[in-house]
Amino acid sequence: MVTIAGPITLQAIEPYLAQVNDLFARELASDLDHVQKLSNHVERFRGKMLRPVLVFLSGLAARNSSEPLGQTHVTIATVVEMVHVATLVHDDVLDNAEIRRRGATINHLHGNEAAVLLGDLLISHAYHLCSSLDSQMASRAIGRTTNIVCEGELTQNFNRGNWALTEKTYFDIIYRKTASLIETSCRLGAWASDADAATIEALGNYGRDVGMAFQIVDDLLDIAGQQKAVGKSLGTDIEKGKLTLPMIHFLATAAPTHQQLLISLLESDAPDRIDNARQLLIPSPSMRYARNRAQQLVDQAIAAIEDLPESEIRQILMEMARFVTARES
Ligand code: IPE
Ligand code: IPE
Ligand code: MG
Ligand code: MG
Repeated sequence: MVTIAGPITLQAIEPYLAQVNDLFARELASDLDHVQKLSNHVERFRGKMLRPVLVFLSGLAARNSSEPLGQTHVTIATVVEMVHVATLVHDDVLDNAEIRRRGATINHLHGNEAAVLLGDLLISHAYHLCSSLDSQMASRAIGRTTNIVCEGELTQNFNRGNWALTEKTYFDIIYRKTASLIETSCRLGAWASDADAATIEALGNYGRDVGMAFQIVDDLLDIAGQQKAVGKSLGTDIEKGKLTLPMIHFLATAAPTHQQLLISLLESDAPDRIDNARQLLIPSPSMRYARNRAQQLVDQAIAAIEDLPESEIRQILMEMARFVTARES
């Protein structure tokens, strides 16, 4: 049973998630052993399946009947998971990460070249699968979203080492690289249930705000999380000079000597600089500030779906939003 949202169990969508895993594996099947080996690796180490879960929950929250969800939802859910895994495989190259989903990263096992090419293969499979849908609407929406995700990653990369990065640019980066795909997952789930424009909009806004909060919490975990619990390489934001919300707040509000100390740690290549930066940030009010911002976004996400008809699924969506700020992995 899936327990993505902590205490919430998602029995209602369990069979759909199993179909996503099957379709994912079928689509990636290759007659080339060396390609199949890489696909097997990404299939073996599964993540939380947040985006497919949101396609299905949005689809269920938005429909007017008690009919089960159809193949369109399963296809869309598989496509968004493929896009997501492609971005993770590429992101681990950018962050030089060694651990992902409690396993070794592709770049660590097989080198950056293999990881770049596997990420390309995954994104290509995502578009190929999406184009099997009758309507072009979903393909256009996925293509538009991946354009935005790539722009987010490019903006983040462009701003590496920019100690004057503003909150505004940070929020733009996290909307693009993370929240946009989560928003699209919710919108397409509702769209595939023939929902009206207002329902699609409400669920899209929910997904956007959950996605923003999710990335802020991910950035907090990068500083203060336990690698064992989170299951992926941490500290890479500090290592790569990518300022996140607690760091931006710290550099704007801490005592000038502390601000200077953080910058010198970010610029240093001493082996203990990441630990020292963590020790400076963790007790500071900047961590609480970032957590509060995430909480505001969670409240906003919940408010976005308040006008949808009351149902158990709507309740689960609200619980999931609350869990985003409580999670430790
Ligand atoms: C990791 O996403 C990348 C971010 C957007 C923070 P997830 O935390 O959803 O990764 P998996 O799919 O569970 O591994
Ligand atoms: C997520 O950013 C980037 C993507 C959208 C792929 P991170 O670099 O913070 O993601 P993790 O922490 O490695 O999962
Ligand atoms: Mg990363
Ligand atoms: Mg991160």
